[in-house]
Amino acid sequence: MSIKTQGLPEGFLWGGATAANQCEGGFDKGGRGLANVDVIPWGPDRRAIVLGKKKHLDFEDGYYYPAKEAIDMYTHWKEDIALFAEMGFKTYRLSIAWTRIFPKGDEAEPNEEGLKFYEDIFKECKKHGIEPLVTLTHFDCPMHLIKEYGGWRNRKLVGFYEKFATVVFNRYKGLVTYWLTFNEINMLLHAPFIAAGIFIEDGENKKQITHTAAHHQLVASSIATKIAHEVDKNNKVGCMVAAGDYYPFSCKPADVFASILENRENFCLIDVQSRGYYPNYLLKQLERDGITIPFEDGDKEILKNHTVDFISFSYYASRVSSEEELGKAEGNIFGSVKNPHLKESEWGWQIDPLGLRITMNTLYDRYQKPLFIVENGLGAVDTPNENGEIIDDYRIEYLRSHIKEMIDAVNLDGVELWGYTSWGCIDLVSAGTGEMKKRYGYIYVDRDNEGNGTLKRTKKKSFDWYKEVIASNGKNL
Ligand code: BG6
Repeated sequence: MSIKTQGLPEGFLWGGATAANQCEGGFDKGGRGLANVDVIPWGPDRRAIVLGKKKHLDFEDGYYYPAKEAIDMYTHWKEDIALFAEMGFKTYRLSIAWTRIFPKGDEAEPNEEGLKFYEDIFKECKKHGIEPLVTLTHFDCPMHLIKEYGGWRNRKLVGFYEKFATVVFNRYKGLVTYWLTFNEINMLLHAPFIAAGIFIEDGENKKQITHTAAHHQLVASSIATKIAHEVDKNNKVGCMVAAGDYYPFSCKPADVFASILENRENFCLIDVQSRGYYPNYLLKQLERDGITIPFEDGDKEILKNHTVDFISFSYYASRVSSEEELGKAEGNIFGSVKNPHLKESEWGWQIDPLGLRITMNTLYDRYQKPLFIVENGLGAVDTPNENGEIIDDYRIEYLRSHIKEMIDAVNLDGVELWGYTSWGCIDLVSAGTGEMKKRYGYIYVDRDNEGNGTLKRTKKKSFDWYKEVIASNGKNL
């Protein structure tokens, strides 16, 4: 049932989000080099590869690699942006594939064809009055940097990223002002191959490696923030966290403490990006675990002086902590204890609209910086009816209930929120499972898990619903 609300302040950035590796395809077009995300297959081995537990650095027979063609936005981008514009998008979150700009990652000169590709996209967005919101790295790392240098475990990656960021900020000056440095930076602690191009060898200390890589990404993020501000003082740079508060399973103090610890695990890296220094709890914990942070001269100053302008996050579900081993729910890479009060999606992700308001309050209380919701949505199976229509009422219901809580967080709690980009505004490849069947979009794409289909785009019922949400600035949900 539709809902009326007070709406949102004028200028609110409504839109949708995608990531290069999940929609572009064209993996070998335009001089693009190979990246970690290209060689992650669909199927039973995917998870172990994503988590850096199974080494898989090349295409191998017997596997299907969904990122190679994805939904071929590489050739369909104009048509897709026109559909976003028809929905009234004020912003479109997309990522730049690093390997289109620097195919190997360590070249002296960038690839002009790749630079031009994104320039055309940004210009097309502007033509439609859409503000691009650009993620520099959304789970992609050039394969050459992985094979030659070991991915983000190597400090040299900071310099390569700095170069990439410098080229991109200069080239797109005036076209892009909203930037995110690393997608879901906390993912790196759980899924080091997809998030940082790292495979953990037998006998290696995973925690040491992931925190070394995290330090490199944190320094790289601060350097990029510095450069972004130098190139254009209007640039706004955000961090990005896979959010969703951990609730204590019960009021047992040990459960409450367990939730504090798990929330800190999520926040520890954006604490650094937002506040400019490592939080004491993390320093103490790493010291206890015998982990060293590879500080080099000048790192502390860089982190301190170049903090982010805003906090962006993905929210799909809340999580639960308990001191006991209890039944687990599925979740965004890392699952949690199951919450008996919540329903769940077809993929077992728990559905908690109020949890979005709770998470927004937590983040705003913690950082006192503007927020940007850059991912939220329902992954579901969509089946076209006999007329080819997709009546996705379940998706509308999910989004409506979450947007309602988001509006309450702004109007009732005073949370400062710049915008909302729902995830996968057009159907794309799932990062977690590699499936096409797990769809988030307002726009259906005819393609299946094995890569069959015409790639035809069709508006779902949610397309017109979201169009009205945007047109009414959130008053009509
Ligand atoms: C986030 C990622 O983790 O969740 C996206 O930033 C991803 O890349 C999204 O697609 C949804 O997860 P999934 O596994 O359903 O694709």
